[in-house]
Amino acid sequence: MRRALIAGNWKMNGLRRDGLDRARALARRSREAQLAAEIVICLPATLLAEIRAALDGGAVALGAQDCAPEENGAFTGDAAAPMLADAGCRYVIVGHSERRRGHGETDRLVRAKAQAAGRAGLAAIVCVGETQAERDGGVAGAVVERQLRESLPEGADGAGCVVAYEPVWAIGTGRPAGLAEVRAMHATLRAALRARLGPKADGVRLLYGGSVKPENAAELLAVPEVDGLLVGAASLDVEAFWTICRAAG
Ligand code: PGA
Repeated sequence: MRRALIAGNWKMNGLRRDGLDRARALARRSREAQLAAEIVICLPATLLAEIRAALDGGAVALGAQDCAPEENGAFTGDAAAPMLADAGCRYVIVGHSERRRGHGETDRLVRAKAQAAGRAGLAAIVCVGETQAERDGGVAGAVVERQLRESLPEGADGAGCVVAYEPVWAIGTGRPAGLAEVRAMHATLRAALRARLGPKADGVRLLYGGSVKPENAAELLAVPEVDGLLVGAASLDVEAFWTICRAAG
């Protein structure tokens, strides 16, 4: 049995005051009502230390949104996985489409980042997903399989890796993928994981992301092979995010 995972991705949003308020409210809810699902919020680096303290005693874990492939050194502006672990993170997102597109990140680089995360004891949330043009061109499955094959670290397993399917056209558009599309792609991903990892594939959680909202969380979670959700905009609203967490049980 894979435990459901609800991951909030705050992206580049949140100053100290509103970030702390949001995290405290979430931690309070997680103390009051214990959920079966695992919850993590992936924060801007500036908020990690303070929010780590605010989450203390609650059931919400801390995550980051990217890490460098190197351990340390002359890499101005980057944060290394051991630094994120040191700041209290348990998870780190790698290969988000906003980084693949906006920062030219390749599958090879995403794999190096996921491997660095593993060395630091962090679980990597490895994102894959096709563009609208790729879907229209009938190559969505092939693109996502390639991303999975080339971005997933060697020796991946359920403890060190989560895969998030996020169709680029569904992110931030208010238009999530259809349930049939999610079902088909998650089946493809599970089969690809089995071919690659053998029995270990069954421990790897597959998240769906892209315009997840309180209104569609339950139906997305009911799709076979959807083990959780990666939530962007709705994770900035405590009520909305908590409703989504509750939908996972
Ligand atoms: P969204 O973003 O929920 O705002 O569509 C999801 C993501 O990019 O992780």
